[in-house]
Amino acid sequence: MKPSWLLRLALAVVIPTAALTSSAVFAQAAQAQVETAEQKAERLQWWTDARFGMFVHWGLYAVPGGEWKEGKNYGEWIMDEARIPRAEYERLAEHFVPVKYDADEWVRIAKNAGMKYIVITSKHHEGFAMWDTKATDYNIAERTPYGKGVLKELADAARRQGLHFGTYYSIMDWHHPSQSGEIPGRYNPTRIDPQRKREYIDEMKAELKELVTGTGTEILWFDGEWLNWWTNEDGRELYAYLHSLNPDLIINNRIGKGRDGMQGMDKGEGVGDFGTPEQEIPPLGYGPGVYWESCMTLNDHWGFNKNDHHWKSPETIVRNLIDIASKGGNYLLNVGPTAEGLIPQPSVERLSEVGKWMKANGESIYGTQASPFDAPLAWGRVTRKPGRLYLHVFDWPKDGRLALPMGIQYSRAYLLAAPDQPLKIQYAKEGASLAVPAIAPDPIASVIVVETAQARH
Ligand code: GLC
Repeated sequence: MKPSWLLRLALAVVIPTAALTSSAVFAQAAQAQVETAEQKAERLQWWTDARFGMFVHWGLYAVPGGEWKEGKNYGEWIMDEARIPRAEYERLAEHFVPVKYDADEWVRIAKNAGMKYIVITSKHHEGFAMWDTKATDYNIAERTPYGKGVLKELADAARRQGLHFGTYYSIMDWHHPSQSGEIPGRYNPTRIDPQRKREYIDEMKAELKELVTGTGTEILWFDGEWLNWWTNEDGRELYAYLHSLNPDLIINNRIGKGRDGMQGMDKGEGVGDFGTPEQEIPPLGYGPGVYWESCMTLNDHWGFNKNDHHWKSPETIVRNLIDIASKGGNYLLNVGPTAEGLIPQPSVERLSEVGKWMKANGESIYGTQASPFDAPLAWGRVTRKPGRLYLHVFDWPKDGRLALPMGIQYSRAYLLAAPDQPLKIQYAKEGASLAVPAIAPDPIASVIVVETAQARH
């Protein structure tokens, strides 16, 4: 008698409470906590295999293209740096008319470069939503003559061409009425009206839910988290919420206090799935189970700047990618399209050159693991797959002998470009070396495959 009464009481009290606080959120929060290292590795598998992705910074800042009054060096921070009043900034939307936007073409450019995923700004610090959202009217569909969103189109095009799709989202919002700048005339960092923080977070959740369910985004790439009012606790709650919508989502560490790249991710601390070194490559990797992605610009700006011609060379880009892969990381390389919807031609050209190298040598990048050696080698970098090493030679030896690292038993070696012409492995007191042709087969990086009989460690 008693137990059934108790049971009924429990059902009456507990279930509605759980339903109110969203039982799914609890279930997912619990799941996130108990996810094993293997499960995480599996969830992030496609992303770690991919190694190379395209970052896209696109928003109203593309309209002035980096120029405001006498200033010429602005980018996506123009609203803050040029101290543009909100009402004046809003009017940029009237000139955002991306009639040349062709999502399929953007994806082709990324794919042709060897990139396997695209991450685009859904809402940058300026607070302008690049999709047709119901959560705010400050969005591309409502405020621009173009009259429709651009994210779903890119997501669909990416999927059609076999690429993965992700979205960047800024926590800091210079336009939102709950937030105001701490410094007069400036927006960053914002402070929030404490009465309205909950409301703002709910609005963020509504927007993020649209991105997850509407565009099918697979990555959520947060930013603008350095504000005093945003806490790791807020990040953890948001992480659990997002995983309740889709447990496969991959989320960066800036959902918590993730500034300065790794921010404890290498020590198993921090919120989110992967670290985000910005404009830099860590000197060494972090070992297995630590995930990271270096994001970098192609010139010196994230958002479109018409005066910035300081482009990275294809050699730098390819060598950065190799360096990153040899340390077990991903490379997210940015383009800043114009307000008309074009990826600037110099970016397109460089990416196409990178693509030529990737077509011949992609096997040495995709699905590889970090080098087994503790430090980068004098002549270049190493990646590996089970039973083989890929030697990426930047500085081709002048004497026809490439010194091989000690501690490994080598069985067969050949140029990736000429698999049926084995290279001779020579053993001497100082260690093993390879007899290689006099001239580097590839001026950017020549790849030699070495099959390893057995690693000694
Ligand atoms: C920075 C900047 C931002 C850029 C981002 C990319 O946090 O605030 O403009 O989007 O880094 O990593």
